[in-house]
Amino acid sequence: MDADALKKQAAARALELVRPGMRLGLGTGSTAKHFVDLLGAKVAAGFSVLCVATSEVTQAQALSLGIPMSTLDETPELDLTVDGADEVDPELRLIKGGGAALLREKIVAAASARMVVIADDGKLVQRLGRFPLPIEVVPFGLEATRRAVVAAIATSGSTGELRLRERPDGSVLVTDGGHYILDAHLGTIAEPEKLALALNVVPGVVEHGLFIGLASGAILAGASGLTILGRIE
Ligand code: A5P
Repeated sequence: MDADALKKQAAARALELVRPGMRLGLGTGSTAKHFVDLLGAKVAAGFSVLCVATSEVTQAQALSLGIPMSTLDETPELDLTVDGADEVDPELRLIKGGGAALLREKIVAAASARMVVIADDGKLVQRLGRFPLPIEVVPFGLEATRRAVVAAIATSGSTGELRLRERPDGSVLVTDGGHYILDAHLGTIAEPEKLALALNVVPGVVEHGLFIGLASGAILAGASGLTILGRIE
């Protein structure tokens, strides 16, 4: 079975967690897109939910499907967020931000009572870091911030190259929040908590893609079925 079919299976299982009247956070990326499609079909059949999107792309998709949308200003507490991930480790620590939506994804996840990750089981890793860690930075002072990020990574015991993320046409990628992304190619992250704390205190870093203590569970779809990590109910 191809990865896209597995992503859809994980999304379908997550849809079973949605109860009438829930306030939902909607993730970003190809797996979350399946979830939003399935939710849209349920809403079209009369199901009631109120949702907050983690990106402009997801907002547009949800609106096109007729899903009732809100904001964290109007609805600051959510019951459940369903989102994808770039890597998941056995302790439910994540790397996110491959789709450049990490800032809103983290804000929405933090505002949710539960966050459930949906992914194909190729995203499960014993150690985070093979996927480049996205670090969202403000454009002002980029070079100074880049150097400070390099130092923060070193103090946390990791090393690797930082690359400013570009669009396919070679222009610098700008996030929904108007920021840039530095992708840290670390190979392996020895101490994710230490790295997260070190990055949190760098001026100019808006957010990073290490999600620690945010996911309550994960639904991972593989050739031999679904694997559940943590708690999803
Ligand atoms: C978006 O910024 C990301 O955090 C995505 O959730 C992550 O990249 C997973 O995307 P896919 O579901 O497309 O693999």
